[in-house]
Amino acid sequence: MEKRHYLAIGGIAIAAVAALIAWSMSSGMAARQASGHAMFTPDLTGIADGAPIAEVLVPAAFSSEAQMGERAFNAVCAVCHGANAAGINGTAPPLVHIFYESTHHGDAAFYSAAQNGVQAHHWKFGDMAPVTGLTKADIGNIVAYVRALQRENGIN
Ligand code: HEC
Repeated sequence: MEKRHYLAIGGIAIAAVAALIAWSMSSGMAARQASGHAMFTPDLTGIADGAPIAEVLVPAAFSSEAQMGERAFNAVCAVCHGANAAGINGTAPPLVHIFYESTHHGDAAFYSAAQNGVQAHHWKFGDMAPVTGLTKADIGNIVAYVRALQRENGIN
């Protein structure tokens, strides 16, 4: 074979490898975003300060555990995370959000958030301070409530 044929074949091979790398990077990124693992800050432009961040559908009925969780949530979490855990722009994120699906933020993340607080990492609202005065059972009920809201909205 002549030298330029080798060059042409080499060029095609390099282009194919480059395309494969580009493809695997972009599909990997899409997969991470779909599962909520991406570390990007959602774009909230267009949402007024103090307005709910997520549009949340509320289930027609809650389990009794989730009903107790709703009362506890409204008493201590809703001041920041908003009614129906829809978030409050400028204050705290919606918990009805793909970031908080159970495979990414398991139930332990809720116990830890309430007991130890949270260092800001997904949003720009600052840290969450620990919430005192809740029993483990209270937090379990809150988790049941938030998971019920998430399920109704296609998360989980
Ligand atoms: C004073 C405001 C405030 C209150 C009250 C509050 N939170 Fe938060 N919470 C935040 C902020 C801000 C974040 C976002 C941190 C970040 O940027 O990821 C957060 C994040 C979380 C997270 C995500 C944890 C993680 O690992 O990323 C969970 C779960 C959570 N809160 C649950 C609760 C629950 C349950 C309550 C009530 C018991 C509650 N929060 C009360 C402000 C608050």
